[in-house]
Amino acid sequence: MATIDLHSKEFDEATITKLELFEDYAKEWIPTFVMSNCTNLWIFDYFAGPGYDKNNVEGSPIRILRQVAAQIGNIFRKQTRINVCFNEYDEEKFNLLQQHCNQFIDSHPELRRAINSNLLNIAYRNCDFATLFPKTLHVIRRNPSLLYLDQNGLKFLADTYLLELEKIPTTDFIYYASSSYLLRFGNTPEFKSLALDISKLKKQPAKYVHRELLYQLKNKLPKETNLSLYPFTIKKGSNYYGIVFGASHPRAVDKFLKTSWKRNETNGAANFDIDDDGSKLQLDIFRGKSLTKIEQFQQNLRNKILSGEITNNRDAFDYVLSQGHISNHATEVVRELKRTRIITYDKKQPYISYEQTYGHNKQIVKYTIIRK
Ligand SMILES: C[S@@+](CC[C@H](N)C(=O)[O-])C[C@H]1O[C@@H](n2cnc3c(N)ncnc32)[C@H](O)[C@@H]1O
Repeated sequence: MATIDLHSKEFDEATITKLELFEDYAKEWIPTFVMSNCTNLWIFDYFAGPGYDKNNVEGSPIRILRQVAAQIGNIFRKQTRINVCFNEYDEEKFNLLQQHCNQFIDSHPELRRAINSNLLNIAYRNCDFATLFPKTLHVIRRNPSLLYLDQNGLKFLADTYLLELEKIPTTDFIYYASSSYLLRFGNTPEFKSLALDISKLKKQPAKYVHRELLYQLKNKLPKETNLSLYPFTIKKGSNYYGIVFGASHPRAVDKFLKTSWKRNETNGAANFDIDDDGSKLQLDIFRGKSLTKIEQFQQNLRNKILSGEITNNRDAFDYVLSQGHISNHATEVVRELKRTRIITYDKKQPYISYEQTYGHNKQIVKYTIIRK
């Protein structure tokens, strides 16, 4: 199948959305590990491209370097070594990639200083991902790692890669997937290795193809997995692409969900109103009021608290993450239940956050039902 060469063109809005999401996550991920006194961190950009588009808009490698530069004070203070691997298969792009990264480093003396102090190590590779990936696994297994898999198409979401990543709890990864291809070419031999149920994908409206892909990928994971996967659908014209974020640690999931809800405050999972929530804000004179995604989540949470299924802040936070929401959505509900004297707890706030449930300020706050 022919693929479009991004870099002979300018990045379109959807590509920029993807790159911003990549960068927003690096902005959260780097300081988290630097401040937790890790000695060695790894970032792999396996499909790095040349560094810029035709109009000099930054691609993933330059955005990663920018976020390393933004943390340089902390990196020196904590003496954390940041290792970055940029890989690009196409030789011409690979040469440009090195040239552009070097230019960026030359214009950021703090990065050069970090390289000279052995706190920044950049490894450039000109390999096919399929060959490189297994060679990088021993590094990924031993160090906190962030992986970008900005592929053309979908093929590297195959079990060979995804199920390998599932086994590594210290790894966060972000895939890009051309999900609409499945609707058009899903039955061709190229997509067979993904082992997806294409007829099921086709039964849904096209706008849900990425969400359904994610659902099917989740079903391939072992039953006891700690890995959580989240989608972010990106609409480009009449096609749907998307991000697949994966992480095993609740802190990572919390950070990703915060970045995706910042990007879309209505659904946190797409660059458009995927569930038509805009129309649900109005009262329909025939059908009454349909619940928006946030309202539905809040109603479910309320019911789970009142049924005794969720009894404390930790249960509530786990539920927030499992449903792909953010703490604020739950905090509003629990506060309101206390204000209306339906439940009580012995703190001023409901304490629903990563820090207060798993992190340094961990405290279990019990929610006691007073009346139903
Ligand atoms: C979607 S683009 C990535 C864009 C890049 N992340 C950026 O921000 O500009 C995919 C890139 O992967 C490269 N590529 C394609 N197949 C590859 C493979 N099997 N292994 C490594 N790189 C590959 C392409 O040449 C292309 O530059």
